[in-house]
Amino acid sequence: MPGTIAGAATYALEWKDPAATRLVLDTRDLTIDKVEGEANGAWQPLQYALSDKDATLGSKLTIEVPDRNAKVRVGYRTSPDASGLQWLTPEMTEGKQLPFMFSQSQQIHARSWVPLQDTPQVRYTYSARVTTRPDVMVLMSADNDPAAVRDGEYTFTMPQRIPSYLMAIAAGDLVFKPISGRSGVWAEPSMVDKAVAEFIDTEKMIATTEALYGPYRWERYDLLVLPPSFPYGGMENPRLSFITPTVIVGDKSLVSLIAHELAHSWSGNLVTFSSAKHGWLNEGFTSYVENRIVEALYGKDVSDMEYAIARNTLGREIKDMPEATQALAVKPGTELDADGALSAVSYDKGAWFLQFLEERFGRETFDPFLREYFDHFAFQSITTETFLAYAKTHLFDKHPGKVSDAEIQEWVYGPGIPASAPQVLSQRFGIVDSARLGWRGSKQLPPVVITQPWITQEWLHFLDGMPETLPVADLAQLDAAYHFTGTANGEIAMRWYPLAIRSGYAEANEAAAAFVQRIGRRKLIMPIYTALVQTEPGLALAKEAFEKARPGYHPITTGSVEKVIADAKPKPAPVVAPAPADDESEAPASDEPASVPPTN
Ligand code: BES
Ligand code: ZN
Repeated sequence: MPGTIAGAATYALEWKDPAATRLVLDTRDLTIDKVEGEANGAWQPLQYALSDKDATLGSKLTIEVPDRNAKVRVGYRTSPDASGLQWLTPEMTEGKQLPFMFSQSQQIHARSWVPLQDTPQVRYTYSARVTTRPDVMVLMSADNDPAAVRDGEYTFTMPQRIPSYLMAIAAGDLVFKPISGRSGVWAEPSMVDKAVAEFIDTEKMIATTEALYGPYRWERYDLLVLPPSFPYGGMENPRLSFITPTVIVGDKSLVSLIAHELAHSWSGNLVTFSSAKHGWLNEGFTSYVENRIVEALYGKDVSDMEYAIARNTLGREIKDMPEATQALAVKPGTELDADGALSAVSYDKGAWFLQFLEERFGRETFDPFLREYFDHFAFQSITTETFLAYAKTHLFDKHPGKVSDAEIQEWVYGPGIPASAPQVLSQRFGIVDSARLGWRGSKQLPPVVITQPWITQEWLHFLDGMPETLPVADLAQLDAAYHFTGTANGEIAMRWYPLAIRSGYAEANEAAAAFVQRIGRRKLIMPIYTALVQTEPGLALAKEAFEKARPGYHPITTGSVEKVIADAKPKPAPVVAPAPADDESEAPASDEPASVPPTN
């Protein structure tokens, strides 16, 4: 039930170029009602033109400002199809009483709900006044007051300068519960206690990151738990990270997501990439800091397991990627489709590179270096080359002989994973590997004393090491013992269902379809759709599930699923794997030749 936002955006302008008489803003699917400039306390109409819509960029709004007014105001309305907003009917929420709306602006969707200069190279402060029906609470990436009265009239101020992709708003039946003096959870009433229990370590995470990288500069740090249709795991909107409910699994095993979004308060929100081409400056640094937080709070056992899972996934993905997109960054002057910019390469190869530097220079040198880097470039947008120049002066040249220029060049601009990459050896995953191998050889499941204490990560590694397909009887045996079908853990679901579908284990179909109808987080459901569309009956099931799920999906998720269905080249029927002992095609994923050496 999409709605619209109507209002006016007022820009306080500092005209730096003495020749400029135009204000150019990004928009997409906005209706512009009027444009005015202020002079001597009065608003006068300004001439403007809205260009034809470009499929990627939307429509350029060009405003003629001959008098270079210090204030310009644009009256506008959003479209019900705004790419950066999702509108949910009450039935699509947990509580089913009130409608819900939220924004997702990264990378270039802010322009679909506010006309603005939609590039991370421009930063601004903002204030906002929002009016809604009185029973709905509104929050923004700003100074949300935990004690705000729900009355349909809300005001916000964001005194720190932010780039447009961090502009955010949400509205719904939202209540607040504190975690510490400066952090807490906003969620629907029925979710808030569960969320506080899961995310209770948030204050410790903030304190840990401050001890490593300097003060948290954004005052409050709150979490907003979204409905399950939220298309991402999390989004680092300043002061108010947006969080998928799928990480609330009851044992805190998936809270590295909170560490990740919090870490962006330094890497990304404070020091920002100048374009998505330098995505690793945000996501690679953040994945590295995330791992440091996890290590400090939950121990090296857990942080090592997380690195191993991410790197095994990276290893599988990178070998199917064109060489150019295997690089962290492209050399200045090289053309690259920005679509490929944020893959596992930005996140996990990026974090790996920083871990490599940490290892070469030692934490006693590398930690203060990063802290000074965050300070030095605070509230600025930079490129890979700016980082490298800074690192040369403040790290490489200060401690000569630790890394060679060739090694840095290979890490940043080369394909694959350099041989100098530090290896992670997780003992706990060694046990998981033995358990899996033992079972595959003997069909004897590991003793319960082994598997009983396993946390999510161990189960993920158990499944990640399985072959492409398994005999149906084997899947039935695993399912009977571990109840994977119907799991409430989305990370397990995104691994189990594709394996079951590829193997023709039809018992899981219904639960897989129910899962993709309940959850809209792309990372969790796309592997299931991708597995389904490989066969005719699977494609039929995918289409049926999608038809039912579609009204509840975010536009981003809808777009991804539509593409997988449209590009499908299904085979007639599932190939049910026979049960031979040593079929070559059954080689475990971790035995596949990969450009990344498998971890455990
Ligand atoms: N900033 C990203 C989400 C994002 C990236 C949105 C690119 C749009 C374009 C966020 O911080 C993120 O990385 N989320 C991850 C979780 C993380 C733990 C890897 C996600 O949503 O899966
Ligand atoms: Zn991120």
